[in-house]
Amino acid sequence: LFKEFIYLDEVDSTNTYVKQNQQHLESSTVVYAERQTQGRGRLSRRWVDLEKGIKMSILLKLLLLDLEKIVPLTLFTGLVINRVLRKYGVNSFIKWSNDIYLNGKKVCGILCELSGEVEGFGSIIIGIGINVNAKSIPDEIKDIATSLKAETSQDFDRTRLIIDILKEFEKEFPNFETYGFSHFRDEYKNFCINLGKEILVNGQKMLCMDIGENGELVCEKDGKIVEISSGEVTIRF
Ligand code: BTN
Repeated sequence: LFKEFIYLDEVDSTNTYVKQNQQHLESSTVVYAERQTQGRGRLSRRWVDLEKGIKMSILLKLLLLDLEKIVPLTLFTGLVINRVLRKYGVNSFIKWSNDIYLNGKKVCGILCELSGEVEGFGSIIIGIGINVNAKSIPDEIKDIATSLKAETSQDFDRTRLIIDILKEFEKEFPNFETYGFSHFRDEYKNFCINLGKEILVNGQKMLCMDIGENGELVCEKDGKIVEISSGEVTIRF
């Protein structure tokens, strides 16, 4: 699946780079940057650039028909990363929709963006940020974010980690294309920290009951079932 790998020392944001250069890039290109000066997070937030991390974006050019899969695709990506981290012995979990948590703090975020259409094809840019070998976490985020190294005192081989993530993605992508998210739902639920918890969704208190067939969050609020497919979710630990 992944044929082209572009390494950049520094860039504003790998997602922005892919967006700006997508016409010249083949589908399945991976763009990696050692440093990002304007890393972007979900909901217009900033992605703080930690040293010795992984910041990369995957470009997938998909039939526009398939673009409704974007939400499930982000969940799928989170699941793949969680699976690889667990193979490394890391006790990670998924926070819906696609954050990876370790010891109650975030170690990985995913930003999926839709961009442009050419002759029936659209681009999906999957941006992945993993805090890997940073020793210390800046004060501004240290209560909510961490790195693999800060939690495990281990150094991780970032090249190995990238290869393992891309390989796992490649191995499972055909299953995702054929069966959709439902093929991965049990595993996702197994590691999802929202289930059974009282959560805040866009400021409203709800009880998280289930993850639906397409990855939506199924909650109960005032005796009614509410399905959520995007938004800001906070968990009360
Ligand atoms: C989030 O949790 O809010 C998503 C964070 C996504 C960060 C990655 S780092 C590589 C790629 N380039 C960006 O500017 N953002 C994503």
